[in-house]
Amino acid sequence: MTTEQIRKGVFISFEGGDGSGKTTQLKLLADALRGLGQEVVTTREPGGSDGAEEIRTLILEGAADRWSPMTEALLMYASRRDHLERTIKPALECGAIVISDRFADSTMAFQGIAGGLGEDRVRALHDLVVGANDPDLTLIFDLPIEEGLKRSGNRGGEQRFESKGNNFQERARNAFLKIAAAEPDRCSIIDARGDVADVAIRVMETVKQRLPALFKK
Ligand SMILES: Nc1ncnc2c1ncn2[C@@H]1O[C@H](COP(=O)(O)OP(=O)(O)O)[C@@H](O)[C@H]1O
Ligand SMILES: [Mg+2]
Repeated sequence: MTTEQIRKGVFISFEGGDGSGKTTQLKLLADALRGLGQEVVTTREPGGSDGAEEIRTLILEGAADRWSPMTEALLMYASRRDHLERTIKPALECGAIVISDRFADSTMAFQGIAGGLGEDRVRALHDLVVGANDPDLTLIFDLPIEEGLKRSGNRGGEQRFESKGNNFQERARNAFLKIAAAEPDRCSIIDARGDVADVAIRVMETVKQRLPALFKK
């Protein structure tokens, strides 16, 4: 994978806490863009390719202290590299819009900042593994932690991060806001309160404003 390759598609990531509505809104945005005649590939992290989905299970299941923040970040970046090589880059090279349910900002928020690994370490990994393949647009869904917990309820097996507790989730929420403030050209905060239809309007307005070319096909 070289960074010189010309990218034709558009890469969008959805970030934010658990229960903030990412998966719900991603599906709505993908359907809306498909309705305009766009080719859309939806994917997720951790995961999004066969190898990365296997790593996902290692990351999201088991005891909260199963991995140190550094080991966890390395697993995340190993899975992210596979996801980029096998799913994201090929789709972008075909001109598709790729929308990923979480991407690298989650590693910065959960391992780098909330988990205490440190921003510099995550940034070093990021430069090595992702390089110039950052999203064109990142929507950061912001919601009070208690509301997210109420919404998401019981999700079955993949509970490692939820089990780290509310302080951890609160630190991650603040970390996402910090990332958005530091990279305003890439990131846009979506107020995730209110019902699904209200949030969907905010998402659509933001995407129209940030990526007007997607609506001129
Ligand atoms: N705006 C909303 N208001 C109320 N419930 C919502 C809203 N958006 C999503 N939900 C519900 O909350 C739960 C979590 O939403 P989801 O989209 O899975 O969030 P995330 O992917 O960010 O964890 C789901 O059961 C979903 O149907
Ligand atoms: Mg989700």
